[in-house]
Amino acid sequence: MTFPSPTLTALEEVAVQAARQAGQLLRINFAKTKELRFKEGIHNIVTDSDIASERLIVETIRAAFPNHAILTEEAGLFDTSSNIRWIVDPLDGTVNFAHGIPIFSVSIAVEVAGNVTIGVVYHPLLDELFVARRGYGATLNGSPITVSQCAHLSDAFLVTGFPYNIASYPEYRDWHFPELVRRGIPIRRLGSAALDLAYLAAGRFDGFWEVGLQPWDIAAGVLIVLESGGVVTDYNGQPHTLSTRTIVATNGAIHRELVEFLHSRDEA
Ligand code: IPD
Ligand code: CA
Ligand code: CA
Repeated sequence: MTFPSPTLTALEEVAVQAARQAGQLLRINFAKTKELRFKEGIHNIVTDSDIASERLIVETIRAAFPNHAILTEEAGLFDTSSNIRWIVDPLDGTVNFAHGIPIFSVSIAVEVAGNVTIGVVYHPLLDELFVARRGYGATLNGSPITVSQCAHLSDAFLVTGFPYNIASYPEYRDWHFPELVRRGIPIRRLGSAALDLAYLAAGRFDGFWEVGLQPWDIAAGVLIVLESGGVVTDYNGQPHTLSTRTIVATNGAIHRELVEFLHSRDEA
């Protein structure tokens, strides 16, 4: 059976619809008692809402595009022969969600022939919808967004995160965070990498770094940053890909300084 190629508008509409539907479910469930299950380790949890949100998103995608491949955090890869693959984090910020902290999001990206082409990040409690289409810019609730103008690391407002199994990442340095704090640079750790990136794209943060992120955490957010004029690389300043496990994302102006900082105690 052959399927016609969908337009980018059709892909974006379904991504937005799925993110809003999942967000509505999370908004309702946020007020209720959560059933937790542990994946690996005490803090790597999954709630009933992760599963329910994912199911809803997958149903919405399949109803519109039954032949597309879908990679989700909880169920893994549903592969097909299509060159279109959806990349879904049904609840980014599960630990916040489970502890009643109102910072979490839904992240949905659409990859076409290996390039992330649509990115949607939705914060349901604030009803903030970040959308990017490759080559067409990024928006927050329909209004165009751009990264900040901050020119120096010393003036920057930064955000970071820590994976649950941080010790297993060779690039992790335990001095990065305290050294920036010692220099008086304000840093936040929100607990949702998708929101970290979306907020950077909207100019709320100037830079973000983290090790150990997975494609579903960042696929949508990276496109939103790029389409807002930002720069995203790995820790070595090399182009970022979905298989890269380190990320440095900035407004562009402080990128080099932040990458250099991350290596500033490396032996020559
Ligand atoms: C986590 C969040 C967090 C990041 C972790 C991720 P989850 O995703 O994005 O900000 O620091 O590395 O695993 O588990 O809440 O979907
Ligand atoms: Ca995640
Ligand atoms: Ca998740």
